[in-house]
Amino acid sequence: MAIQRAETADQARDTVNGWQTDGLSVGFVPTMGALHEGHLSLVRASVAECDRTVVSIYVNPTQFGPGEDLEDYPRRLERDCRAAEQAGADLAFCPADRAMYPEGYSTWVVQEGLTEVLEGEHRPTHFRGVLTVVCKLFNCVPADRAYFGQKDFQQTVVVRRMVRDLNMPVSIRVMPTVREEDGLAMSSRNAYLNEAERRQALCLYRALGEAHRLYRNGERHADALRAAMERVIAKAPLARADYVDIVDARTLRRAESADEQAVAVLAVRIGKTRLIDNHPLGEEFPEH
Ligand code: PAF
Repeated sequence: MAIQRAETADQARDTVNGWQTDGLSVGFVPTMGALHEGHLSLVRASVAECDRTVVSIYVNPTQFGPGEDLEDYPRRLERDCRAAEQAGADLAFCPADRAMYPEGYSTWVVQEGLTEVLEGEHRPTHFRGVLTVVCKLFNCVPADRAYFGQKDFQQTVVVRRMVRDLNMPVSIRVMPTVREEDGLAMSSRNAYLNEAERRQALCLYRALGEAHRLYRNGERHADALRAAMERVIAKAPLARADYVDIVDARTLRRAESADEQAVAVLAVRIGKTRLIDNHPLGEEFPEH
């Protein structure tokens, strides 16, 4: 069936409410477009688990800081709608900026405690923008389940906390990171990389692999794991780490010793492109 489109909150909500009145379950995949296999795997997961699936395509300006890539962020609405349709989505919610942030907009969702570290330390207004838009999107698309990718690990933790703290009636599903053949995590920002940068971008995956290898061999000192990851990054001359860390999955605090809850996380600039990735150390490493 051809995908439907909604451009206003009322259109999206009326469609979703109509389905739910008919007893159908609804899954929701919020995206900023430039859809790749990572996003499409979320759509497919929703299609498998829910009767109807909504994808939102909206480049949210409030989660970009000054000097970040808001202007350059890839926008391919028609292609994205076709890809979402082929993956089985029923509705694309594609609001305009003025529909999401009308003149005089002044209300924000702020989480304290989980958003000051890692991404939040380097992008201080990022999570205020993410949580605000995700909250608004959940109000526009009152789905039963919402799907997020593990690649944005901190985002999943912070969104889950918002949903719990604000009693939002949606269940959050986190799906595995989808990787390119060589292991690079799929990201809309990979499109910015030139050939040399693309090769060196693999240092993120390799650094996580090294942390995993040491952990599996019994290394539990978080400092030793951090140092090993840093050594891998240092071998890529175009790479500059914003952070390389081992954190507790629940609190996002720096771990002293790595246990089953430890997650290796990193954000690395390859040239001008900033990439993130992570690996929960207690899980199997996705060998490529
Ligand atoms: O993960 C993303 O693409 C964005 O942060 C999200 C959740 C769609 C909010 O704009």
